[in-house]
Amino acid sequence: MNKVLVSLLLTLGITGVAHAAGDAAAGQAKAAVCGACHGPDGNSAAPNFPKLAGQGERYLLKQMQDIKAGTAPGAAAGVGRNVPQMTGLLDGLSDQDMADIAAYFSSQKMGVGAADPNLVAAGEALYRGGKLADGMPACTGCHSPNGEGNAPASYPKLGGQHAQYVATQLTNFREGVRTNDGDSMIMRSIAAKLSNKDIAALSSYIQGLH
Ligand code: HEC
Ligand code: HEC
Repeated sequence: MNKVLVSLLLTLGITGVAHAAGDAAAGQAKAAVCGACHGPDGNSAAPNFPKLAGQGERYLLKQMQDIKAGTAPGAAAGVGRNVPQMTGLLDGLSDQDMADIAAYFSSQKMGVGAADPNLVAAGEALYRGGKLADGMPACTGCHSPNGEGNAPASYPKLGGQHAQYVATQLTNFREGVRTNDGDSMIMRSIAAKLSNKDIAALSSYIQGLH
């Protein structure tokens, strides 16, 4: 009886470990197909494709799982995250494959861009101060003052990300096109307070932030 219990506990424990850890070296080979859009090391050239280099591992894995679910044929509206450009690309990948790819891109270094000097003051004020009158918190609390994010909490790194991609995400959260920020709707409620001008200033500032 005791032996059965011990081996059951061991099995459960080992399964838990196998799911948690990604192997960056194994992930590099599995990520080859991703490089066409995201860049071989995760620093994409095109501003509408997000940089993945240096992004938090847990955040990357969550997005892959959300995109896989939201882009599957017949996925209901509001399920996961719909990225039509990635249709079919994640279907053949197991959770372990995706964890390995997340570990690989996370181990790379995100390059930084430049902010438009005319937008820095407005962008910085919003990023660091929020909009207190409207009850909108500063971005720093979750994405950190230098834009590094908070990897253990799955709050994404923003500093250095393409402005065009960031603007698309903030607009998509505001319009309810991107809905994978959970039941607390953190980003949807923040983006609801942002004008197009605010989004342009924040996105430019974030592209140069490091
Ligand atoms: C044909 C181009 C293309 C290919 C190939 C591609 N992606 Fe993407 N990916 C995109 C686009 C476009 C987006 C974001 C679209 C949007 O939301 O604006 C995206 C978003 C992502 C995101 C979310 C990033 C974030 O910051 O939230 C992850 C993670 C990702 N891709 C991983 C992968 C992986 C892993 C592969 C390879 C298995 C891959 N992609 C292949 C185009 C591509
Ligand atoms: C209370 C915490 C919190 C605050 C404050 C916050 N965010 Fe976020 N943000 C998140 C979380 C969590 C996600 C990831 C949601 C998901 O899992 O898809 C996110 C995602 C994002 C993304 C998408 C990143 C990507 O790679 O696709 C952008 C852009 C973003 N936030 C910008 C901002 C800006 C700009 C502000 C300030 C105006 C801000 N956030 C304030 C928690 C926060």
